[in-house]
Amino acid sequence: MRSDKEVDITNYPTLKEFTKNIKLEWIINCSGYTDVDKAEKEIEKAFQINRDGVRNISKIAVEKRAKLIHISTDYVFNGEKNTHLSYTEDDKTEPINLYGETKLAGEKEIKETFKKYFILRTAWLYGIGGKNFVSTMLKLFKEKEEIRVVSDQWGSPTYTVDLAEVIVEIINNDFTKFGIYHFTNEGITNWYEFAREIYRKSKKLGIIDSNKEVEIRGIETKEYPTPAQRPKWSLLSKEKIKRELSLDIRNWEDALTDFLSFLSLQRK
Ligand SMILES: NC(=O)c1ccc[n+]([C@@H]2O[C@H](COP(=O)([O-])OP(=O)(O)OC[C@H]3O[C@@H](n4cnc5c(N)ncnc54)[C@H](OP(=O)(O)O)[C@@H]3O)[C@@H](O)[C@H]2O)c1
Repeated sequence: MRSDKEVDITNYPTLKEFTKNIKLEWIINCSGYTDVDKAEKEIEKAFQINRDGVRNISKIAVEKRAKLIHISTDYVFNGEKNTHLSYTEDDKTEPINLYGETKLAGEKEIKETFKKYFILRTAWLYGIGGKNFVSTMLKLFKEKEEIRVVSDQWGSPTYTVDLAEVIVEIINNDFTKFGIYHFTNEGITNWYEFAREIYRKSKKLGIIDSNKEVEIRGIETKEYPTPAQRPKWSLLSKEKIKRELSLDIRNWEDALTDFLSFLSLQRK
């Protein structure tokens, strides 16, 4: 098993050398420049990784005759779609921040390079390892008495295990209906409700001290300005992936329970 530490995707010769003596059937690209706010300033670096790095990986895939599974984002959309309606794979893309622009540029590189790709657009990822909204909330519940969380940005949390299962499903079935697919857990929520659910469930599971009370307050985006704008509404339609892969997708609350139960078992 090799880790991302061993190869820089922005350096094509290194990537070529890295893959020289290995047979590749599938490439799964989970790498990326992911600091949404910093991207507004580190424009060149973000494009280097999310566009040029993806082009390099696509070229390697062509040379190796490998198929590519690439992780993309709901941030390719502007979030202005009518609430209650979901974004389909064919909807017009129009990123409203730099990170979204770089991810869209990466998608374009793949599409222009070859056909044997799956672009999986997902959203609000959390899971074991790394920094994510759930891990941040669990930390804040320990440290703070009050937390303010935006309640006017809507989307669908996605457990990395569920996304990984879809990837495995694609590979195991040697699925060949290439293209763009949307995948998140089912349901929709906002960051405030998501935080409340993490609090409620983690308290129940004993992940946070039962005597510790934290007040979670919903605020509007304008009360929490960030360098990068975020889409207000980014419900992704899962109809295509459900139909093509005969998938049952669980809702975000069940996936969250599963993840937090896993964490609570780990702590015992
Ligand atoms: N998090 C979300 O909610 C979300 C939502 C939709 C889509 N996505 C996409 O999902 C993928 C994974 O996101 P994540 O949240 O798991 O991000 P992450 O934790 O920041 O992981 C990104 C990985 O990319 C690696 N990387 C960065 N630059 C690289 C380079 N030049 N060469 C090789 N590896 C490099 C990083 O390695 P180092 O740690 O060594 O820098 C890190 O391991 C990304 O493509 C992201 O755009 C994420």
